Amino acid sequence: MVTGASSGIGLEIARQLVAGGVGVGLFARSQAKLARLVGELGSSLALPGDITRYEDVERAVHQLEAHFGGLDYLINNAGVGIFKPVHELSPDEWQQVLQTNLTGPFFATRAAVPAMQKRGGGHIINIGSLAGKNAFANGAAYNASKFGLLGFSEASLLDLRYYGIRVSSILPGSVDTPFAGNSTGAAWKIQPQDIAQAVLYLLQSDPRIIPSQLDLRPSQPPRK
Ligand SMILES: NC(=O)c1ccc[n+]([C@@H]2O[C@H](COP(=O)([O-])OP(=O)(O)OC[C@H]3O[C@@H](n4cnc5c(N)ncnc54)[C@H](OP(=O)(O)O)[C@@H]3O)[C@@H](O)[C@H]2O)c1
Repeated sequence: MVTGASSGIGLEIARQLVAGGVGVGLFARSQAKLARLVGELGSSLALPGDITRYEDVERAVHQLEAHFGGLDYLINNAGVGIFKPVHELSPDEWQQVLQTNLTGPFFATRAAVPAMQKRGGGHIINIGSLAGKNAFANGAAYNASKFGLLGFSEASLLDLRYYGIRVSSILPGSVDTPFAGNSTGAAWKIQPQDIAQAVLYLLQSDPRIIPSQLDLRPSQPPRK
């Protein structure tokens, strides 16, 4: 299951997983986009839902199990960015960022683990950000969500490894997607394909080890 599969990084992860022979559940709010993508990608299932609603996430996991016969991988990728000085963030904006980027991965993990336990193991990959280690002005909500996600990821690794469930984090720098209203086409940015390749690398690593954190930085960012 890939959350946030309707756009950007999640869409590319789904595309490369399908190309690698994995059946993929596409979770996001945009129902029409997901239906179109199933036609385009093949070997996938539309799972329309809102990651901030536990019942949506749990229903998606059950639909995926019924369709594919089980759940092996969860890619927690859905996320939003609202960038404002802390004193200008509305309580609703704070809630939206924290609920999507931090509570969402908890909901998906909570719903997915029983399904993975039935399979004897699995792999959860959390798409964090370098903003989860480095704070910046206007980042109060986003930084808090991604710092939190890193802690969540590390703690869940320690809980879940005894069940054969591995947890990894990928922390990218700037990726060329429409995230937070960004325009696309900047050649120096990390491409969504680079993140998808990192996901495949982690999934294919030997189950004897857990690659817990992978930082991905652009090699040629503009000089400041
Ligand atoms: N782009 C960057 O520079 C960058 C850098 C580091 C980390 N990241 C992280 O990478 C992840 C993906 O971002 P992206 O760059 O691919 O952005 P994007 O193109 O805007 O995609 C975001 C995805 O999240 C989904 N989403 C948002 N809110 C949701 C909700 N409440 N329920 C379900 N799905 C929801 C969106 O689908 P719907 O709108 O259809 O629901 C969309 O598929 C995020 O976690 C982001 O923080 C991005």
